[in-house]
Amino acid sequence: MKKITIAIDGFSSCGKSTMAKDLAREIGYIYIDSGAMYRAVTLFALQNDCFEGEQLDVEKLRELMPEIHISFKLNAQTGRPDTYINKVYVEDKIRTMEVSSRVSIVAAIDFVRTAMVAQQQAMGQEKGIVMDGRDIGTTVFPDAEMKIFLIASPEIRAERRFKELKEKGEEASFEEILQNVKERDYIDSHREVSPLRQAEDAIVLDNSHLTIPEQNAWLLEKYHQIVGE
Ligand code: DC
Repeated sequence: MKKITIAIDGFSSCGKSTMAKDLAREIGYIYIDSGAMYRAVTLFALQNDCFEGEQLDVEKLRELMPEIHISFKLNAQTGRPDTYINKVYVEDKIRTMEVSSRVSIVAAIDFVRTAMVAQQQAMGQEKGIVMDGRDIGTTVFPDAEMKIFLIASPEIRAERRFKELKEKGEEASFEEILQNVKERDYIDSHREVSPLRQAEDAIVLDNSHLTIPEQNAWLLEKYHQIVGE
């Protein structure tokens, strides 16, 4: 069967990774979370003292870039790929607030993006891949056969994150989360290099009022339409 490339872009906390992971499993494709790669570079920068508080020593990070090798291994239990830096498991460490609050600074640096985009394109060379992020349909795979642009209102996304954190037993304020969602939207869509924008040929899905099974069914139908089955 003909393999295609599937790009899923959208704002933070829209549920892109849930959607991408479920589709990849359903159709036997590889799933790559490109945000995890920017998170991994941020973690590496923190571990190697490139940050003083929120201040990043860009030149120090530039020198370290050739030493950062990111890879993924599918975790059979979660159904998601776990992230490794230089063969060391870092999946938990890249999801902390320490990394989350600095990742947009790192993701806006041109040489970081050049390196990550090259790795992402190499991973997708054989097609049969679902990749989610912010610039997958525009920069990484502009020729992807299937492009989805996922949106949901900031309030709904904040509500979902609020519930997620509560379930994990973490303290959270809805107002703070909502403000963080809006700030990240602004940074992601206003940065100079590769800002988040909808590819002209992307299909838009507003999943504000869809359940996960409903959005998965919608996505699978689109996939079948595109591959012509
Ligand atoms: O999807 P996420 O929250 O894990 O992404 C982490 C950060 O990386 C976020 O600030 C957006 C950025 N990112 C990006 O600039 N380009 C991508 N392709 C994926 C993520």
